[in-house]
Amino acid sequence: MASAVAASTPIGNLYTHFIGGKRVAADGEPDLVRPNPARTDQVLGELRSADEALVRETVGTAAAAWPTWRNTGAPARGSVLLEAARLMDAHRAELAHLIALEEGKPLKDARAEVQRSINITEFMAGEGRRFGGYTSGSESATKFAFTTRQPLGVVAAITPWNFPLAIPAWKVAPALVAGNAVILKPASATPGTAVRLAEIYREAGLPDGILNVLVARGGQAGQTLLDAPEVLAVSITGSTSTGRTVAARLAARGVPVQAELGGKNAAIVLADADLDLATAGIVDGAFGSTGQRCTATSRVIAVDAIADALLERVLERTRALRVGAGTLDDTDVGPAVSADQQEQVERYLDIGQTEGAERVYGADLQGLGGGYWVPPTIFDRVDPAMRIAREEIFGPVLSLIRVPDADAAFEAANAVEFGLAASVYTRDLPSVFRFVDRVDVGIAHVNQPTLGGEVHLPFGGVKASGIGPHEQGREAIDFFTKVKTVYINHGP
Ligand code: UN1
Repeated sequence: MASAVAASTPIGNLYTHFIGGKRVAADGEPDLVRPNPARTDQVLGELRSADEALVRETVGTAAAAWPTWRNTGAPARGSVLLEAARLMDAHRAELAHLIALEEGKPLKDARAEVQRSINITEFMAGEGRRFGGYTSGSESATKFAFTTRQPLGVVAAITPWNFPLAIPAWKVAPALVAGNAVILKPASATPGTAVRLAEIYREAGLPDGILNVLVARGGQAGQTLLDAPEVLAVSITGSTSTGRTVAARLAARGVPVQAELGGKNAAIVLADADLDLATAGIVDGAFGSTGQRCTATSRVIAVDAIADALLERVLERTRALRVGAGTLDDTDVGPAVSADQQEQVERYLDIGQTEGAERVYGADLQGLGGGYWVPPTIFDRVDPAMRIAREEIFGPVLSLIRVPDADAAFEAANAVEFGLAASVYTRDLPSVFRFVDRVDVGIAHVNQPTLGGEVHLPFGGVKASGIGPHEQGREAIDFFTKVKTVYINHGP
């Protein structure tokens, strides 16, 4: 049971579900209360999570709305995306502020996230005009053969809190341009930004019921969504354990999953590297967005010849970082997103000490007040076998691993279960190609940070970092469509 709600405060009123083209409140007392991560005595918003009945109702709404969208030509669907991109551009400042407030990341990172959301939406709008298959010769002179692409129906996108706009945007855009109806289940820490995205799409002309947002703290509602027979594909970004659990559940009814999971990304620095370039990339990679990104640099693997010189530069640059509220313009490192995340980082700081790594830097957090603050931290002399060298911390913690040479560096880079991204800093061409060939990741960077990627190229990992096809790039359409091969006999 649900009812339409009226606006109250500028962000509190975004704490709703968004179903059939409008904000909807679930009946019952709020069970999800979101504190401001930089000022935990302030509540940003609260809502009552979706229950099983609301999930089923929403899936029904999406399924009922779908045929109209399916029958809208792909170029026209693309035009809706293009208008959504234009609206994101027009609301740039508002969206960046919302992200910085709700997730806690610094405004400069939030602005980059808005830009990326615009980029992917614009790119996928163009896919509306390229949508389709190919023609082929046939074994018979009187046959004509071609492939065509069709949307799946209702699909689900399950998204994390660390890119509250960009990850929903890059899952939703290919799903929509391909002609699907979408249920977006954002992280319970950042529902407001997801609702805003859905509203922008509505304003851009997306028919009601084609993009719906359901907020729930995992559990039963999440399972009901995964089990709904109408849901025919699920794209999820989250931890490796969550991704595997979801994939196993979906395998039982033969539904494909695209899962973008954890990382333990290494920046490898070889003896001939430009150390200033490496330093800038490492510090940005490790501490930008408070280290809360799956492509964050959490390991530096440096050859002995330059390790001391590199560490000295990295320390100097890290000491200059300003920790503070994301909404302040001069902040470099914001708070952790939540108390759980803060505790996780603190636990790993203890583990690092216990394992015998040398803590060479920990930022002073005094005077910051009551937020989920975590100190940018650097450990030196980390052994690849230590937990801080192998497990995803998802915070501003950097481990320096010293190795004798490039071969040992590549081996250490691969000595983790993850395989999302890696960087190498070198000017030696053979080393670049050995790195590309040997290091087992989905995204390899040379002389630039382990972070991110460009939206028109595929994004995703191997090993424990991903399941199924990658996101973004032209390939992103594949996951959200089915291919039909057609043979037409035009002879007798
Ligand atoms: C980026 O690091 O720029 O959850 C993108 C994440 C990834 C997206 C990262 N899925 O951090």
